[in-house]
Amino acid sequence: MTRLSVNIDHVATIRQARKASEPDPVAAAVLAELAGADGITCHIRADRRHIQLKDLERLRQVVTTHLNVEMAATSKMLKIARSVRPDLVTLVPERAGEVTTEGGIDAARLKKKLAPHIKALRRSKIDVSLFIDPNLRQIEAAAELKVGTVELNTNAYAVARSDRALAAAFDAFVVAAAYASELGLAVAAGHGLTVRNVQAISDVPEVYELNIGHSIIARSVFFGIEGAIHEMLDAI
Ligand code: PXP
Repeated sequence: MTRLSVNIDHVATIRQARKASEPDPVAAAVLAELAGADGITCHIRADRRHIQLKDLERLRQVVTTHLNVEMAATSKMLKIARSVRPDLVTLVPERAGEVTTEGGIDAARLKKKLAPHIKALRRSKIDVSLFIDPNLRQIEAAAELKVGTVELNTNAYAVARSDRALAAAFDAFVVAAAYASELGLAVAAGHGLTVRNVQAISDVPEVYELNIGHSIIARSVFFGIEGAIHEMLDAI
């Protein structure tokens, strides 16, 4: 079955809205694991708008499944990765002021810059994933960079408003997933997935894991984190 990694960033977003001590994203991680999540994901941003370094350190101690940390490919983030030692680092592009990650990392264009960064992570025995758009050039670049995993961006699929746009986005995703797998990459997916749109993506045979955050945390406000995770696992 496709695995679910729950992104807990937005628990920290609520806490940071008041610079308070609750809700605690680490407590959310524990509850998510108890509810059946296969992994925990969080994104440490340069502006620290949600997850803080202290959260990462505590998550590393508490998460018993699989800890995936999304971060930009900068020297400061490399230092953090080496000290926290998550199971997986997912490299994402980051633009100051963006509301959320706006697209995949341009691995094809940034190959020279990413290569030493990825090597350094792997030397520290940290697995690396690249968050990329479902585009064949990006997949080839990821394979050349020798990462083990790609996370294919499902945003175009999630925001498609017409049947035509949805079919085009889904087809592109299916082709990309097959190609990535053919090149030896493990295929994860995420961004904008909800209980209403997740099934088609989770049914794509190459997809082994989904990273889902906003929708789960949003629905937790009404149904509790356990309820929101159970309904997502049912939908998957
Ligand atoms: N994957 C990546 C790389 C992301 O940056 C995000 C958003 O933090 C997600 C998955 C999860 O997206 P969403 O919050 O829309 O479920």
